[in-house]
Amino acid sequence: MAILPIVEVPDPVLRKVCEPVAEVTDEVRGIVADMFDTMYDARGIGLAASQVGILQRIVVIDLQERPEGDEGDEGAGDEADADAGGTRNPHAFINPELLSVSEETSTYNEGCLSIPEQYAEVTRPARCHVRWLDTDGQSHEQEFDGLMATCMQHEIDHLNGVLFTDHISRLKRGMLMKKLDKMRRNG
Ligand code: NI
Repeated sequence: MAILPIVEVPDPVLRKVCEPVAEVTDEVRGIVADMFDTMYDARGIGLAASQVGILQRIVVIDLQERPEGDEGDEGAGDEADADAGGTRNPHAFINPELLSVSEETSTYNEGCLSIPEQYAEVTRPARCHVRWLDTDGQSHEQEFDGLMATCMQHEIDHLNGVLFTDHISRLKRGMLMKKLDKMRRNG
């Protein structure tokens, strides 16, 4: 178990497409455990393996009993300032695949541990049907809605080298990156 350094923009590793996990081994389970440690330490609600520099299709999510539908609060996506006092409900998704998404959309104010302290409203399909392997290598399929649907799509995007800022206008993206630069300069 270890807390891994989180890769931040503009590191090119965040733009890489992650490889499918061929077999769920103890090594993969070790990566999942480290990803949970890292996510909880950063007070996030989701983390994709590429965010810790591992180019494999692995995602961890724990909404920690955040109530659904609280749009407007900072951070769907993976940076959410998760309440450390919340009940942990860890989920690992290996090789997650979006099988289908709803026509209906929803909008959340998203953040990302790789783009620290920057948020923007992102509109995505409101529901998604996902297939994945668990840490025993068993296959599952489920439809998600609410914050979980948004978080799942945000994390699967990471596995494909896509960031939430790719879903907003160029103008908004420029403003957000300027704010990030300023924040970094001010330490
Ligand atoms: Ni993210």
